[in-house]
Amino acid sequence: MYLATCAQRLLCVFGLGMMLSACDNTTEPTTKTFTADIYPQMKGACGSCHNTGGVAAKKFTIDAANAATTYTNLMTNNLINKTAPDQSSLIVVGKGGMYTPSAGGMAVAHTKNLNDAQATDWVAWITAGSMQ
Ligand code: HEC
Repeated sequence: MYLATCAQRLLCVFGLGMMLSACDNTTEPTTKTFTADIYPQMKGACGSCHNTGGVAAKKFTIDAANAATTYTNLMTNNLINKTAPDQSSLIVVGKGGMYTPSAGGMAVAHTKNLNDAQATDWVAWITAGSMQ
């Protein structure tokens, strides 16, 4: 009886120690920024059409040489929804959602250019305040 209790206590103390040391080793994830994290992915995934003179330039353009210009462009085109990050048109349309062409007419489906891992990253960036 005594032995059992003693062993349980030891296990408990040991377990707590493990938990605390696990906490010590956990570093806070750094906040993603547009320039360092999103912009490079965006150039790769969206830049072939959303470039100056490209087929999708009227909706937003990615300046291949300038992250700041691109950031301003995204913000002025209202592609980010800060109150419902996963509903941002940047995410929904990028993943293959519907949009109305700038030439008018019926809504059409966009191609799926944003993969799930990128979508998760981009939503996390918007949720954290869409830092430049
Ligand atoms: C294969 C070409 C192509 C690629 C790559 C592409 N798009 Fe598009 N996108 C288009 C076209 C075409 C339009 C409509 C342009 C127009 O009507 O003027 C568009 C429009 C949009 C719009 C505007 C939606 C609206 O409601 O007006 C968003 C947002 C968008 N794309 C996001 C993205 C994102 C994010 C990526 C990359 C992950 C991406 N696109 C990659 C072709 C592309």
